Amino acid sequence: MGVPLYQAELEPVVKGELAGGDGPGANETADARAELLGRLRELLPAAFPDGQLDSGALYAALGLARPDKPSFSFSWPGVDRARIDARIPTAATLVPDVDASVNWDITRDILIEGDNLQVLKILKAGYSGSAKLIYMDPPYNTGDTFTYHDDYGVPEPHYLRTSGQINEPDNATTSKLESAGGKHAPWLTMMFPRLAAARDLLRRDGVILISIDDNEVHHLRLLLDTVFGAANFVGSFVWNAERSGEARLISKVHDYMILYARDLQFLKDKDIRWRVRKSGLDETYGKIEELRGKYGKDFDTIGQELLKWYDSLPEEHPSKAHEHFSSVDERGAYFCEDLQSPGPEQADQGLRVKSYLHEHEEWAPGSVFYQDRRVATKTFNDLMGREVFDYPKNIDVLGRMINLITGEGDLIIDAFAGSGSTGHAVWKQNQADSKVRRWLLVQAPEPPKVTLKASSRVFAAGYGTFFDLAADRLRRAAQQLQDGTFTGPQLGFRIFRARSTNMAVEPERVPVIEGADAAAVAWEAAIKAGGTRLDARVRELDVDGVVVYQFISSDDSDVDRRLFVSLGEFSLATALELKPTDTDTLILRGDKAEDAAIRTLSSQLSSKLILLERVPREVLGLTAWSAAGSGVS
Ligand SMILES: C[S@@+](CC[C@H](N)C(=O)[O-])C[C@H]1O[C@@H](n2cnc3c(N)ncnc32)[C@H](O)[C@@H]1O
Repeated sequence: MGVPLYQAELEPVVKGELAGGDGPGANETADARAELLGRLRELLPAAFPDGQLDSGALYAALGLARPDKPSFSFSWPGVDRARIDARIPTAATLVPDVDASVNWDITRDILIEGDNLQVLKILKAGYSGSAKLIYMDPPYNTGDTFTYHDDYGVPEPHYLRTSGQINEPDNATTSKLESAGGKHAPWLTMMFPRLAAARDLLRRDGVILISIDDNEVHHLRLLLDTVFGAANFVGSFVWNAERSGEARLISKVHDYMILYARDLQFLKDKDIRWRVRKSGLDETYGKIEELRGKYGKDFDTIGQELLKWYDSLPEEHPSKAHEHFSSVDERGAYFCEDLQSPGPEQADQGLRVKSYLHEHEEWAPGSVFYQDRRVATKTFNDLMGREVFDYPKNIDVLGRMINLITGEGDLIIDAFAGSGSTGHAVWKQNQADSKVRRWLLVQAPEPPKVTLKASSRVFAAGYGTFFDLAADRLRRAAQQLQDGTFTGPQLGFRIFRARSTNMAVEPERVPVIEGADAAAVAWEAAIKAGGTRLDARVRELDVDGVVVYQFISSDDSDVDRRLFVSLGEFSLATALELKPTDTDTLILRGDKAEDAAIRTLSSQLSSKLILLERVPREVLGLTAWSAAGSGVS
């Protein structure tokens, strides 16, 4: 496996580095070992389940048997399949749909139709280490497919056979059959490769945030420990959303939002702090204003009245949290903080300092918050002009997370976009704090099930798939946000669709399939071989009568790097007219580039000349979208 789709010619050979025997083994010090362990931890967090290297977990992560010693690791029937799904390359590509997009030329936001595993794998070339926040709101595996597919369970006989508990003639191979995994194992097999692919896209200071409920939260935590390393668990938010009157024992009112960092130690070293504005401040300031109006500069009385007001508030009132700020002077409400004395000579002087409320308006967010779930459904239906989709995520809650974790210029990815709430929330947050963050959303072309009441509303509203619904929601959201007092750059999004590769597979003799759309082939080559991002601008040049696509990065840091793709006959004369420099990358069809052109270009471009060759048979074809979501590479 792992056969490259393209052959990069002329790879630079760095000679001499291996000579001298000065590798880590020959000259091992504690520092070198620590560095090596650091690199291993980065590469295989699953091998460090409790922060320390666990050799059993290391063997398991490498797919090797180590029967002599039990290790602390999480496993389920299907884990091998999941590891293979994570590893095998995808043969899918992303095809731009300019006509369906909104403001294609100016936008940097991207909506992708496709299976998210394929898409995340395709994105790796251009987006590795790029996202500050990846949000996932996967199917919770409730078992009650209501709008989208939400039942990953398989029938018991199927599970018992695939987990090796009964063999072909249906004889038990074990004395105690276990069938509970039939509900959870397929879900875990679906999630594992998607989490692994998502981790690749996170920046070192990036985090993943996943919504989930009691059906899978316990498995998800263990799975995330395996993929991200237990040491990277940041915490869980508990979202208190609504009360249902129908429960028999406990009325379940909450969901979870689980957070893991790509590298938590890095966030600590950088002293990153997440902050939110305390609630109840405005009411407290209002009360102080009122008391000052009444008592002028009589700060003692103001303080006493303020204390009485705090006492009169119910325990759950947000201003109650500020009741220690009960003294008042010209500058506002404060409390006196005792400072540790700086040295023995001042030991008895009792240093005290005034701590003002207006200087302490922010703190780390609490792990429990309340937001009624039904509000989001109502806002969403108002936007869409009818009842379409149940329980989209609340864009104010998402906005709070986006505000907490991300800032100017950051990229936010949502791999289970549903109705597109994350894109809407990023736009709204950008408008609120005048920042420019970008989003990239992935949603499968999953058709609604017309037989189900909730799903049939999606269909009746004219949407053939949940992807179509997301695209329309985002069009409407852009319009609505810009109708108000909008001041930021114009909103829009580019649409790309996951499709079968344009590259020909052996025994074809040419690298590109007959009749493939030239622009789509150029995008495929640029994305996969050139690491081009989907917000790049494209110019079609005529060079010596040959069409050459130039991809221009939208990132300022890349302005000097140019990428050209040409799929026509490419002669020495064309090369001389194009005049690439040594910072350029040039992708040509291997069967259409003249030898003389290759020789000349290879000396000019060093390693950046890439020749497209036909794909070896081992690379898998695109599997059709399956609602169960597994088995797709
Ligand atoms: C819980 S919903 C997300 C709801 C979303 N947060 C919102 O606010 O509308 C999960 C979504 O993931 C989609 N989905 C499931 N498996 C997928 C896959 N393999 N690739 C892409 N999308 C998938 C489903 O079609 C569904 O729309």
